[in-house]
Amino acid sequence: MFILLMGPPGAGKGTQAERLIEKYGIVQISTGDMFRAAVKKGTPLGLEAKKYMDSGSLVPDEVTIGIVRERLSEDDCRKGFILDGFPRTTAQAVSLDAILREIGIELDGIININVPDEELIRRTSGRQICPTCGATYHKTLNPPKVADVCDKDGAALYQRDDDKEATVRQRLSVYGTQTKPLIDYYKTNGHYVEINGLQAVGDVFADVVAALESDRSC
Ligand code: AP5
Ligand code: MG
Repeated sequence: MFILLMGPPGAGKGTQAERLIEKYGIVQISTGDMFRAAVKKGTPLGLEAKKYMDSGSLVPDEVTIGIVRERLSEDDCRKGFILDGFPRTTAQAVSLDAILREIGIELDGIININVPDEELIRRTSGRQICPTCGATYHKTLNPPKVADVCDKDGAALYQRDDDKEATVRQRLSVYGTQTKPLIDYYKTNGHYVEINGLQAVGDVFADVVAALESDRSC
């Protein structure tokens, strides 16, 4: 299963990806996670990406397309993947089409999760992440069993640097100008589906799976 997950910051792409990984046994390719890992390691890519991430703007296309191209060439992507947070510009979408053609893969589902801005602010401001396994929680909307501790491995949860309200508002503005136009890019693709992301996590997941399965049976 080859899935593209779209949606604004905080829509629930990572949360749904976690469940899709388990259900379909496929890998998640999150450009945001890849950049955060590089920042943590202090690599040249991380140092470059951090400047853009901290200000809520996008990492330049040539850098981002390069890391996705490299990742998609790895063997574990042949069985299936979930693209989370890529593409985010028209140039990235055009490059993705070319890369997929080169490796002979067609997307099975293009899922766009819709959530209004004020809810996105609420979700990002309470988000907590496990530094070890990457599991995502929310202090009140999706809390761990024990406050501030990961259910899966007991690690202490942390908040992302770019989840301050001012930075989130900037990310939303960048989403509106640079990424939202991709809806028009994909809308005419027969695999494009819009999902109401305001529902509970499990209900969003049920809609995502129903969309993917009905697409597969066509
Ligand atoms: P990235 O990490 O991709 O961030 P994003 O797209 O802004 O999205 P988020 O990860 O913030 O949200 P999400 O949709 O995954 O939501 P989540 O599941 O966590 O990118 C970060 C930065 O990296 C960018 O700003 C940019 O600088 C750079 N970058 C990344 N990709 C790039 C690219 N392609 N090009 C250029 N630059 C790039 O959920 C959010 C919260 O809500 C959680 O607390 C969760 O528990 C809760 N929640 C989720 N679903 C629900 C629900 N249904 N009900 C209630 N709560 C829910
Ligand atoms: Mg995410």
